[in-house]
Amino acid sequence: MKTPPLPAALVTGACSGIGREIARRLAVRGDHALVLVSENRERLDVVAREVFAAHGTLVHPIVCDLARPESAGELHAAVRALGVDVDVLVANAGTFFFGEVADADPARANTMLQLHVVTPSLLCTRFARDMRARRRGRIMLTSSISAWRAFPGIAYYGGTKTYLRTFAAALRSELAPYGVTVTTLAPGATDTGLYDPTVVDMDRARRFGVMMDPGKVADAALRAMFSGKAECVPGAFNRFATIAMRLVPQRVIDLVRRRAPWLPVRVG
Ligand SMILES: NC(=O)c1ccc[n+]([C@@H]2O[C@H](COP(=O)([O-])OP(=O)(O)OC[C@H]3O[C@@H](n4cnc5c(N)ncnc54)[C@H](OP(=O)(O)O)[C@@H]3O)[C@@H](O)[C@H]2O)c1
Repeated sequence: MKTPPLPAALVTGACSGIGREIARRLAVRGDHALVLVSENRERLDVVAREVFAAHGTLVHPIVCDLARPESAGELHAAVRALGVDVDVLVANAGTFFFGEVADADPARANTMLQLHVVTPSLLCTRFARDMRARRRGRIMLTSSISAWRAFPGIAYYGGTKTYLRTFAAALRSELAPYGVTVTTLAPGATDTGLYDPTVVDMDRARRFGVMMDPGKVADAALRAMFSGKAECVPGAFNRFATIAMRLVPQRVIDLVRRRAPWLPVRVG
């Protein structure tokens, strides 16, 4: 008798940082084929080959620029053409820039809005519909601990990550009756390529122990997602920070923003 194909786990932003670590760990688990999405074909092929060589995992690499309004529809169509059921959706792709709203490059801001708001939301609409019909599935959306407060200087980033956090919480309630779980992943500072090294002194941040290892973030994220948890803030320091952030008055945050020499002020 022919064995049915493995269901798939789709990971966006899968060729670097947290997404790559999540993809590697999903391959180790071996319960899913992988659909890995990136806009960079070369890096994607490297990760796909590495994962296949290490674990024999069936990998479908899909090259897609997720900062385009039509990308969620295209990605869903591409997955349907592969004939796989996506039982795990990890919407993780993201970008970052420092800079006040009035200084931001509108094109860069638009990319962030598409990548953090439009595309993950519409991916959820399309894939959640399939999961709801099958009455099984796991969705994880990558937000950030910056979603806990309003941070001047990263309004676009924090605002979009706040949207993702509340969107995920509402979607979780909608899908609960169908056996589909939704988890918000909210990392703190993590040692990946997200930050422009000419703006953020990564060596200093590492020396101060501020940056978390992306593998540890991925471990915590997958534990939370597969146990159906609502939210995952990896690392004790970051969990403490989310509590502290709730208590600190906004005027203190504003003062730190104006006085702290280590925070970039006008970077587009
Ligand atoms: N690092 C942190 O401190 C931190 C903290 C909180 C939250 N996060 C969140 O964690 C997620 C992963 O970030 P990371 O830290 O792992 O950084 P990263 O290594 O830079 O990963 C970001 C990923 O997003 C993908 N991406 C960016 N623009 C894209 C586009 N237009 N189309 C398709 N893919 C695109 C990149 O793929 P390409 O290589 O194809 O461009 C890359 O794989 C992001 O959502 C980020 O906001 C990170």
